[in-house]
Amino acid sequence: MKTMLNVALPKGRLGEKVYAMFEKAGFPCPSIKENNRKLIFENEECGVRYFWVKPSDVAIYVERGAADIGVAGKDILLEYEPDIYELLDLDLGKCRMCVAAMSGWRDDTRRTLRVATKFSNIAQNYYCSKGRDIDIIHLNGSIEIAPILGLSDVIVDIVETGTTLKENDLLVYDTIVPISARLIANKASYKFKGSEIDSIVTSISSQLEEGK
Ligand code: PRP
Repeated sequence: MKTMLNVALPKGRLGEKVYAMFEKAGFPCPSIKENNRKLIFENEECGVRYFWVKPSDVAIYVERGAADIGVAGKDILLEYEPDIYELLDLDLGKCRMCVAAMSGWRDDTRRTLRVATKFSNIAQNYYCSKGRDIDIIHLNGSIEIAPILGLSDVIVDIVETGTTLKENDLLVYDTIVPISARLIANKASYKFKGSEIDSIVTSISSQLEEGK
């Protein structure tokens, strides 16, 4: 029996773009395009199996070897620091991790800064590198509300178009790091299925070059 390459794709539009790249790289799986609620698709002939998973969970599947490779945002990789190989920047899902606050906000460095975020580790590392004393308020979404209601002084969050900040009267005060989707691999899988994985990396790299 042929060994299967297990691929965790982030559910949603980004995942569909990524699948198209894998298809071009010689790993098609036509049944994935059927409009149903199935989450696992395979093409035994090509030796590939795809899973649709929540984007923030891809790195967990890959780190633990349930998937050999996958596509995860750099935000998730920086936040959870999974023990995986980061193989390629896919130049998709581009946004940036920022510090934002109400317009007119001024940092009072005599006081502990209250930071609301879904990305506690990224925020902690950023302020630690600046030697700034902070109090993290971990939230799971709608982070922009925190400074408006006085729950925090600033937020650390993803900015894509900037619309959410604008519509809530917030401004970017600093960019921490640019974010994009990355192709990642399980460390053991990269040893044992290296030739399949490398052929995907080579094909996708040239697809990205052609698209430039
Ligand atoms: C993200 C992020 C911002 C928004 C930024 O939220 O947390 O709220 O997108 O995008 P924009 O700059 O294009 O407006 P998401 O949609 O993931 O929902 P969340 O509230 O659960 O974080």
